[in-house]
Amino acid sequence: MSHSLPNKPLFITLEGGEGAGKSTAMRYLQQQLTRAGIDVLTTREPGGTVIAEQIRQILLQKQDEPLTIATELLLVFAARSQHIAEVIRPALARGQWVLCDRFTDATFAYQGGGRGVPLSIIATLEQLVQQDLQPDYTLLLDAPPSLGMKRIQRRAALDRIEAEQLAFFERVRQAYLLRAKQAPERFVVINSAKPLSEVKRQLAALVTQLSEKYL
Ligand code: TMP
Repeated sequence: MSHSLPNKPLFITLEGGEGAGKSTAMRYLQQQLTRAGIDVLTTREPGGTVIAEQIRQILLQKQDEPLTIATELLLVFAARSQHIAEVIRPALARGQWVLCDRFTDATFAYQGGGRGVPLSIIATLEQLVQQDLQPDYTLLLDAPPSLGMKRIQRRAALDRIEAEQLAFFERVRQAYLLRAKQAPERFVVINSAKPLSEVKRQLAALVTQLSEKYL
């Protein structure tokens, strides 16, 4: 496990493809962290502030006018810049832990892997928007996209990105796994094709480990 000092609030992100079970995992993690006595703020990307939630709408609504790849990329970073300034940095400065549903690894996966944006361009925007801010830990819920797609097709309506083809989500998955391989000290990869009880067991064990190390 990584580098952070005891008593320093942690910035934890949760990642995964569509239908990987992120919402359930977020709720469960929040519960477990709170139960361990940790003051945790939960938030999400794109979103988390009034302006960033407006940007989220533009990103996810299906409209007649197609979003260009560059627009999509710049909007996710625009939302992130608001979110960091208004929510993430202030919470960490107050001593709260931050649990965020998606962050910049999603940009490397979706805009990089999915859309084919050069990773060096994403890294440049990351530097501009985040400076020294990086997640301490990133939990990646990994499952074959065919399984995730089956899960989300039960939902009422798919948003603009959920409506992509399976090949897009295969590229997203591979980009996530590559990120995890490149930063093993930060990533915890959880096989979310396993039953929910097993995923929860791993999440609970992780919270125990983190609270023993950092509280
Ligand atoms: P959600 O389904 O987890 O609420 O996320 C919203 C969508 O936004 C999801 O399809 C992934 C996508 N997304 C990106 O394409 N790039 C990003 O940087 C982020 C944070 C999300």
